[in-house]
Amino acid sequence: MEMNDRFLRACRRGPVDATPVWFMRQAGRYMPEYRAIREKYSLLEICYHPELAAEVTLQPVRALGVDAAILFADILLPAIPLGVGLEFARGEGPVLQNPVRTMEDVKRLQPVHPEKDLGYVMEAIRILRSELSIPLIGFCGAPFTVASYIVEGGSSREFLKTKMVMYSTPEVWHALMETLSGVLAEYLVAQIRAGAQAVQVFDSWVGALSPQDYEKFVLPYSQKVLQAAKAENVPVIHFGTNTTTLLPLMKRAGGDVIGLDWRIPLDDGWSLLGSDVAVQGNLDPAILFAPLPEIKVRVQDILRRAAGRPGHIFNLGHGILQHTPVENVKAVVDMAHEFSALREKV
Ligand code: CP3
Repeated sequence: MEMNDRFLRACRRGPVDATPVWFMRQAGRYMPEYRAIREKYSLLEICYHPELAAEVTLQPVRALGVDAAILFADILLPAIPLGVGLEFARGEGPVLQNPVRTMEDVKRLQPVHPEKDLGYVMEAIRILRSELSIPLIGFCGAPFTVASYIVEGGSSREFLKTKMVMYSTPEVWHALMETLSGVLAEYLVAQIRAGAQAVQVFDSWVGALSPQDYEKFVLPYSQKVLQAAKAENVPVIHFGTNTTTLLPLMKRAGGDVIGLDWRIPLDDGWSLLGSDVAVQGNLDPAILFAPLPEIKVRVQDILRRAAGRPGHIFNLGHGILQHTPVENVKAVVDMAHEFSALREKV
């Protein structure tokens, strides 16, 4: 089986024949094949059955021609062995039944042994490695984003409960982040040892914080997770949204590749970061609903800003939205490959 390694080469800022492309949330409800499986199984049932998780991971690989696969799982799975509880209520997003807000709550968190307690994730990775001819990306949530769900008990807009723990009882915040960063670091290392060839750390909601608060309350813990993965010698992607003012600090926390959302032009984001890291991004997921000529302009604009520099991975600025037309996603893969390959030739 011939291996397409342009994704791994780009992570290491090496030369590529065309810009690699993959999408956050490339498996999901916008795909008819995924909806067919979800008619029979819940999201958690898919995660618990490695054959199903592997099948769902492969669906976008077959349909789109992407250059990397991302393991099908969820950033909130570690909440289950931690004893916080996790449920996906219909149309409401995640519900964590036992939120953590006090020191007693933190002390009640259960020790987690990823290899055993999240063994179904490792098994899905092993199955996938035997079937894939593109690299497999493992992932976890970053401590802040996972903590936000664990404190709020679900999704949030203002993160008020989270920030109250941080600002009113900093000792509780630091104890929670210490526990979570340890668990997430071990979870990521277990995924790498099971066969993940790169990993992404999702700090999806970290843009809710000022740089000062990021540095004090988040950076050391993200750094612990990112360093643990780096020590395993696979490329590490560090992703967040609304991060324009946080990018230099996120780079300091770690990552061979930094994810950019669409709010910052790719070249401006790359300038803020410096040329010694790779970047991933950054098409607005909503553009995938636009007519093809407009999509084409936007894809070309991103590639023009990347300017053929080594170390660009084409992706969206955040995950694919529900109801996205599959044919437009496929068209973006082809456009990004085609336009970047042309540039390599001139
Ligand atoms: O990218 C992939 O294809 C891999 C699978 C993946 C899922 N979740 C499956 C999923 C990944 C990488 C995630 C990460 C994740 N999960 C994040 C970080 C990335 C981001 O989007 O910012 C977050 C914040 C979560 C937590 C989460 N999971 C929420 C808030 C929800 C509900 C929102 C919704 O879309 O309904 C989920 C559910 C979830 N996880 C779905 C999928 C495909 C929804 C589809 C379903 O219910 O079948």
